[in-house]
Amino acid sequence: MAASHTLKDHQIAIVGAGNIGRALIGGLLKGHDIDPANIRASRRSESALANLGEQFPGIRTTTDNQEAVRGATIIVLAVKPQVVLEIISEIKRVVTENTLVISVLAGITTDTLHSKFELNLPVVRTMPNTPALVDEGATAMCKGTHANDSNLEVARAVFEAVGTVEVVPEYLMDAITGLSGSGPAYIYMIIEALTDAGVKQGIPRTTAARLAAQTVFGAAKLVIDTQKHPAILRDEVTTPGGTTISAIAELESHGLRTMLINAVATATARSKELSGVE
Ligand SMILES: NC(=O)c1ccc[n+]([C@@H]2O[C@H](COP(=O)([O-])OP(=O)(O)OC[C@H]3O[C@@H](n4cnc5c(N)ncnc54)[C@H](OP(=O)(O)O)[C@@H]3O)[C@@H](O)[C@H]2O)c1
Repeated sequence: MAASHTLKDHQIAIVGAGNIGRALIGGLLKGHDIDPANIRASRRSESALANLGEQFPGIRTTTDNQEAVRGATIIVLAVKPQVVLEIISEIKRVVTENTLVISVLAGITTDTLHSKFELNLPVVRTMPNTPALVDEGATAMCKGTHANDSNLEVARAVFEAVGTVEVVPEYLMDAITGLSGSGPAYIYMIIEALTDAGVKQGIPRTTAARLAAQTVFGAAKLVIDTQKHPAILRDEVTTPGGTTISAIAELESHGLRTMLINAVATATARSKELSGVE
């Protein structure tokens, strides 16, 4: 995916190069003309870092978070929320107010990050999702009080390398966690259930699984590419008195729509609860 903002002149530190961090490194190297030597990645496991170095030759890897962030112009915090406070206290003395901090941490506010760094540094908070691993992520982002539009554009460029980006006000981040952050799990359940449904009707499991996954992928692509309202696309495949309407009636009678609305509401509430982490 093309990203318009240039990241060529940045030194980028990925602190916590796990799933999301690895996806970002891959996207940055593919989507931008970046010298791999300008990317530093840290985590505790030396063997995992060695694998990372093999996958992305030329990047700098280290178990030392301070070494990773020293001189970096962009720091991506991609560790689990539980360890971030410990990491901030480790790195804050080598971070300056000119460093852009991009956080992918669920439930950690920009204000918490400002106060823990004890600096008025620009912070952009993001909520990506795991399809970023295949460059099809959906990321929402918001800026903290010390970040400007240019900081936001830099962060956008980083995440557009692995999917699409929506800029939102920070109060929506918990709802976004419930919708697109956790959303892939809901869709995996739907793919699994459709597969079982096909198996029940006698379709071999591997065939049913491929058909189910491609149906979800294709339907999503049609919504995105045509920009038609999903209800119109649904009407287009619903013949009066046909098979589809009989299935739709069944789904409606079991409250599929309400079920999903309530699922996102519950996940949003849980995200708010977890945001109490200080
Ligand atoms: N996965 C998702 O769907 C998703 C979606 C949106 C946001 N997020 C957010 O993304 C963040 C990362 O998620 P993930 O799925 O990428 O998790 P992950 O694969 O577990 O990555 C976290 C990484 O942090 C490293 N780490 C742990 N302690 C460290 C330390 N003291 N210093 C440096 N690195 C350390 C771990 O490696 P070592 O054990 O080798 O240190 C691990 O590679 C989380 O905050 C999560 O809230 C995830």
